[in-house]
Amino acid sequence: MSEPVRVTVSTDDETESVRVYDDAGRVDAGSASFSFSFDGAESSTATESAAAGGQQSGDDPTHVAPLSEVPINGTMRCEGLADDRGTEFILRREGDAVVAWRNSCPHKPEVRLDPGHGALVTDKHLVCHEHGARFVRGDGQCSSGPCQGAALAPIEVSVEDGDVYLTDDRFDACCVF
Ligand code: FES
Repeated sequence: MSEPVRVTVSTDDETESVRVYDDAGRVDAGSASFSFSFDGAESSTATESAAAGGQQSGDDPTHVAPLSEVPINGTMRCEGLADDRGTEFILRREGDAVVAWRNSCPHKPEVRLDPGHGALVTDKHLVCHEHGARFVRGDGQCSSGPCQGAALAPIEVSVEDGDVYLTDDRFDACCVF
């Protein structure tokens, strides 16, 4: 298939939301699963799609972006890739460091914090555009709103020589979109 499909599976306790770069597969969330297939679709792998549509640097597929391109008062949207699955995450800069979280609100995990033009970031918080949950900029804890006490799901990244890399071992590669 030429475009990935976003699949969200929810139970009362758990939600899994991923982008799938394949024409057949299964997504699990707790005890629930969703199987799908597309007839007659061309298949492409996550790596092929990333290379075609995303920004990847040189030979290192975990390179995200130069530190200077990561916003302070906004977010950059990326995708971590493993096999034929893509997991969206967002990054923002705190001084010379970068924090990254899944692009998903703990209140309703199918809601993207950054729908494509950057998440709303104030002096102290990242704010969900859907119902206004406020997450502390540094640690992602929800300090007010419908999911108060929950936290954004962290993604491991590091900064080396002025560049940001995805170092989370759940992923093999990443792309910025
Ligand atoms: S979906 Fe984010 S606060 Fe409700």
